[in-house]
Amino acid sequence: MKIEITPFDKLPRDRGVRVKVGDHRIAMFRVGDTVYAIGDVCSHAEASLAEGEVFDGSVECPRHGSEFDLATGAPSSLPATTPVPTYDVSVEDGTVFLSLDDQ
Ligand code: FES
Repeated sequence: MKIEITPFDKLPRDRGVRVKVGDHRIAMFRVGDTVYAIGDVCSHAEASLAEGEVFDGSVECPRHGSEFDLATGAPSSLPATTPVPTYDVSVEDGTVFLSLDDQ
């Protein structure tokens, strides 16, 4: 199912926005003209990744510093070792949409 989230130009640059859709807690990031969506809950100890610092296509967990790739959800540094989920995002006519398989 495709869900309308927000106008693209309302997304802040280079920092996260937390979005809740059903049971999904999602962190959405705008980097340049690209929008990424990953699971908001850090796979290490449940900090909110939407509150992390964004750089070089990754977000740094605000609690213990693991970095997660915004495109793949994979951690590139400890202590997290498990990826967070990624979500399909599209921008159509200036509006950001999220696609969820199970909604
Ligand atoms: S809670 Fe994210 S690295 Fe520990």
